[in-house]
Amino acid sequence: MVRPTPALAAAALSAVSSVVSADVNHATLEGMTVWGYQGWYTGNWKWFSPAEVIAGPPTGDQRVLTDYIPYVADYPEECREPTNFVLADGSTANWYYSNCSAVVEKHFQYMQKYKIDGVFVQRFDGAANPNDQYYEAGVQVLQWVRQYAEQYGKYFAVEYDYSGLKPSSDPSTYLSILKDDFTKTVKPLFDSPSYIYQDGKPVIEIYGGGFDNGGTGPQFQSLFDTMASTGVTPWKILGVPWTWQQQQPPANDPNQNWDLFQSVDCIQPWGVGSYNSASDFANYYKNALKTGKATADSLGIKFSPVIHAGTENSNAAFNKSSGVPKGAFGQGRANSTLLQYSLGNVTSADLKPHFVFGAMFDEYTEGSQILPALSWNELPPNPNPGFAGYDDGADPYVYLDIAGQWTAEFHRTWGQQPLSP
Ligand SMILES: *[C@@H]1O[C@H](CO)[C@@H](O)[C@H](O)[C@H]1NC(C)=O
Ligand SMILES: *[C@@H]1O[C@H](CO)[C@@H](O)[C@H](O)[C@H]1NC(C)=O
Ligand SMILES: *[C@@H]1O[C@H](CO)[C@@H](O)[C@H](O)[C@H]1NC(C)=O
Ligand SMILES: *[C@@H]1O[C@H](CO)[C@@H](O)[C@H](O)[C@H]1NC(C)=O
Repeated sequence: MVRPTPALAAAALSAVSSVVSADVNHATLEGMTVWGYQGWYTGNWKWFSPAEVIAGPPTGDQRVLTDYIPYVADYPEECREPTNFVLADGSTANWYYSNCSAVVEKHFQYMQKYKIDGVFVQRFDGAANPNDQYYEAGVQVLQWVRQYAEQYGKYFAVEYDYSGLKPSSDPSTYLSILKDDFTKTVKPLFDSPSYIYQDGKPVIEIYGGGFDNGGTGPQFQSLFDTMASTGVTPWKILGVPWTWQQQQPPANDPNQNWDLFQSVDCIQPWGVGSYNSASDFANYYKNALKTGKATADSLGIKFSPVIHAGTENSNAAFNKSSGVPKGAFGQGRANSTLLQYSLGNVTSADLKPHFVFGAMFDEYTEGSQILPALSWNELPPNPNPGFAGYDDGADPYVYLDIAGQWTAEFHRTWGQQPLSP
């Protein structure tokens, strides 16, 4: 197993800087490795379709929506949902609920045990709308994240996902929903000692700027401006496509994205889908991350790479004409080496980004999770309708372990003490 070398740790360690706000010390984003937290498993609907039937070997138009089966042995029974899938050992496969406090608490216990800094909680534009079916569940998960981050000495921030914005979207609707959500639900979190700050400002990421057919540069600027209009200017991170550097004005910038890119504090090109093997990663590192960091430096903004453990999205994206789900594509994780290589490179002094974002902590749907999952030889054998597994013999917690090892290494790169107690 490739691990960072602790020998490098010796030189000049300094304490992580912190700022004072609302009479509490907040940890600073610089040097952190954070993971995206979906918290969206609020029922069978996110694991299986249709949601009303008990999940099991699909018949007719039924579909499995997850690429991996979660490992749920650490969750109490009331947080699990039994399925009709029978595992290789004859036991029943279970889903779990994100909106169960013991699940969120266990996740923070994992972060403590494996020395992972924390998470960016994903907040989709729809889910921030009180009319949304899952609004209450999302707010509940966010409150538990705060509670357990504080209890276990971990850190979090909020990331809005506005990838659903269209140039034709009506600003009077989405801006007022954002303003309400930011004011009522998100701003109160800034008082938490676990909320992540930078330069005295609470960190907020908005994902989805600069994508084809997505919202325009001015629309995304208005999202940040709306937050600032409530009296708190966040430290602004923008999630963009990995091809963002090509959108130079005037010829390649019809949606005025370049001005937006220059106006934020930190740019974060999305990395899921950009590589699936060590050699792909080498190209990505050279052509998107190294050049992206140099471009961000030249614009005077910070840079954050996105890495992942391997990802596929085979089952959720399945459609009949594209063929059967590709369970075996889970080999794309290369038995954990893909995560090791990608973290090893982005946490090095050679790139030294402002912070590292891992996609994702809990996303079994696209198969990018670092949470424990079942291995190939545990999956339902007759037949396996397209689940991928971790390698036989691998520790189910291997990805949490690797994430923590490189988190410590990245703090060393920044000359910091690890944040974990
Ligand atoms: C989780 O959220 C769903 C959707 O709102 C709700 O039906 C369910 O009761 C919630 N589960 C728990 C344990 O609160
Ligand atoms: C299904 O997959 C095919 C082939 O990849 C694609 O052309 C088509 O658009 C997909 N249909 C839907 C509804 O996504
Ligand atoms: C960087 O990635 C390459 C594969 O692209 C790998 O061979 C190398 O070991 C990685 N470096 C570190 C420090 O992990
Ligand atoms: C994957 O790694 C585990 C140790 O983490 C090892 O036991 C297993 O043999 C490996 N599998 C493959 C296919 O290399």
